[in-house]
Amino acid sequence: MNRKSKTAYVCTECGQDYAKWRGKCSNCGLWDTVHEIRLPASGRASAASSAAARAPAALRRLAECGVDDAQRLPSGLGEIDRVLGGGFVRGACILLGGDPGIGKSTLLLQLAAYVGDAGTHVLYVSGEESAEQVAMRARRLHVEHAGVELLTETSVEAVVRMLGEQQPGFVIVDSIQTLFTEELQSAPGSVAQLRESAAILLRFAKESGAIMVFIGHVTKEGAIAGPRLLEHMVDTVLYFEGDASYQYRVLRAVKNRFGPAGELALLSMSDDGLREIANASEFFLMNRHSPQAGTAIAPVLEGSRILTVELQALVNKSHFGMPQRVAAGINQRKLALLLAVLERHGGIVLGDFDVFFNIAGGLTVVEPAIDLGTAAAILSSFRNLPLRGDLAHIGELGLGGEIRPVNAMAGRLRELGRMGFKECIVPPPSRKADWFSEAYGMKLLPCAKVGGLQELLF
Ligand code: TYD
Ligand code: MG
Repeated sequence: MNRKSKTAYVCTECGQDYAKWRGKCSNCGLWDTVHEIRLPASGRASAASSAAARAPAALRRLAECGVDDAQRLPSGLGEIDRVLGGGFVRGACILLGGDPGIGKSTLLLQLAAYVGDAGTHVLYVSGEESAEQVAMRARRLHVEHAGVELLTETSVEAVVRMLGEQQPGFVIVDSIQTLFTEELQSAPGSVAQLRESAAILLRFAKESGAIMVFIGHVTKEGAIAGPRLLEHMVDTVLYFEGDASYQYRVLRAVKNRFGPAGELALLSMSDDGLREIANASEFFLMNRHSPQAGTAIAPVLEGSRILTVELQALVNKSHFGMPQRVAAGINQRKLALLLAVLERHGGIVLGDFDVFFNIAGGLTVVEPAIDLGTAAAILSSFRNLPLRGDLAHIGELGLGGEIRPVNAMAGRLRELGRMGFKECIVPPPSRKADWFSEAYGMKLLPCAKVGGLQELLF
């Protein structure tokens, strides 16, 4: 039992290796994230490295290699296929991260059932829940008869042995944090275990051509190692996000070797699983009634998709010395910055007013393209005057009060026109801007300075 084993030091956030321990990771700049990990004893073939792995690879011409799009495996949900870049690619490794309870197991069981019914051999490795629990979920999703095989196992060696025997085409590991390799003594979920277990399974996927999906929990405290470390190892990283108080869920591709990154799928959680949301661009406006003071409309670009959102501001006389500024859906500092620009260049004084800001539906937006809409919502609440119901806003706000152009103007305007908006306040167009002459059935109102905004709004 006295095998000589090596150690290494790895950052749990970014995966950077070090020869010695250090307090701060010089790669990602975080403190106290570098931990010692024990590497498997050298000189001894690990369970996963079969004879095939040792055989030298053959040379191939670049022109003869490539992904055949026809070979992509559909997932059963068009939204998910779009995020993946057209379906699953053989041999691809996918990491699905997200908070506990957001619906990761639900989504993957649904996809597994579809893929299994379409004729692919599917193996669902559950290290977290018992077979009965997974079966209960399957019944809820009405997929209990699907051709999915279940393995409740947490030893990677046992899993790989089973995979070798069964040769499945699609493997789901729920979750990667629960697996452990017998090569290491550290606890399941530790950095060393996570890294080694994933590496063994990845090797299997690449050799056999199976599609491998890992579920990973995101924890803030770092009690169990976050899946950040795995992001470098896999081909595709998907994040499943949402708010427990809302039905909708967002699946985002953060990294994708087989398709566009940043692409987004909109799904809704129902009593029997996840469903696609058909009219995504209108989804966040569905509960909108007549326009109220303090609300403004802006189109947001998410991946290749335009979502139209309602920006809400509430500006109230402050009763305490220090006015409150509370932002949801945008960065707190972003709100402070926009308020400063409005004060300096927009002709209003907000010094003794509380300002609350929210994006209806709980969406979070980082795009500066909603700056102008945010300013319009604040002005509307400040003056207690509702904006016209068929008016939208596009533009980034500069520190000098200037309104700057944003990308994808044509796409945003086309979507607004399609949804029946009649007017849109836009940045001043350059001379050869096609989107301005096109106008998409709307009246475009160019605005160069935030000082001129009130005139156009009221
Ligand atoms: P789950 O997939 O277990 O989440 P995760 O694997 O990310 O931890 O699902 C979590 C929640 O989803 C759970 O609170 C119940 C709810 N749910 C539904 O609303 N409808 C459904 O059909 C299913 C299966 C779950
Ligand atoms: Mg789960």
